[in-house]
Amino acid sequence: MTDEQPILPLADGTLLPQLGLGLWRTPDEEATGLVRRAIEAGYRLFDTAAAYGNERGVGEGVRAAGAESEVFVTTKLWNEDQGYDRTLRAFDESLRRLGLPAIDLYLIHWPAPSRGLYVESWRALIRLKEEGRARSIGVSNFGPEHLARITRETGEIPVVNQIELHPRFQQLALRAINARLGVRTQSWSPLGQGRLLHDLAVSRIAARYGKTPAQVIIRWHLDNGLIVIPKSANPERIRENIGVFDFRLTPEDQAQIASLDRPDGRIGPDPTATTF
Ligand code: A2P
Repeated sequence: MTDEQPILPLADGTLLPQLGLGLWRTPDEEATGLVRRAIEAGYRLFDTAAAYGNERGVGEGVRAAGAESEVFVTTKLWNEDQGYDRTLRAFDESLRRLGLPAIDLYLIHWPAPSRGLYVESWRALIRLKEEGRARSIGVSNFGPEHLARITRETGEIPVVNQIELHPRFQQLALRAINARLGVRTQSWSPLGQGRLLHDLAVSRIAARYGKTPAQVIIRWHLDNGLIVIPKSANPERIRENIGVFDFRLTPEDQAQIASLDRPDGRIGPDPTATTF
């Protein structure tokens, strides 16, 4: 097995690094240094959002490392900016804050179905892609009905659907729907926001490989073909979380982790019920 970072092809031909750094809750002023150090550690994918308030810091970190042409930056449209014209304006603002030539992957953050604007917003993303300002476009927190609607009404399939996904909430049904459509599944809160790191089964597997529980869980996402963006605001843990390319889980390990799935394992909001 090589230590090389795995890359996954998206339906639009883009080759996306399968592991990235999540920046939810990372303060803007810390983001610059963390991103720069993460690039040194080997990260090539960064996941931010207008709502995280740290696009400026993330862009600055990428530029400080001189890595504009080597890294992929994802950012997301916030719910209040949904609608065709507002999306175009919000995109411009994100691009300005990031200070990068284009946005590699632009996502609709939530379907926010009560607003009734996600199809119009998706049409704006299609235009941004046609203009080359967003290189790839996708969605986040979309359920089957939202995916079906945007693809039916526009004919354009999102390249990724970023959803809450971790061993306690494995989302098998939605993953199957994504796969059938050719949509890559990306896992947010892949470590269950840290709650899974004390799980006994995970700790036992980790001890066998001389790895940490976080590394085992990240490996589980990779071995399941998921794009994974563990969040850490700590340089040592950021380095730890990319040390996962030199081992692979056995079918027995996989079966043990599969058994941690719970119907009520969701931590974040239910996208279909959310009214924000
Ligand atoms: P911190 O930012 O202090 O490192 P998720 O990606 O599932 O949302 O999990 C993020 C949470 O897990 C954060 O609280 C983060 O804390 C913590 N975390 C991330 N990586 C590790 C690690 N390798 N070991 C322990 N905790 C971690």
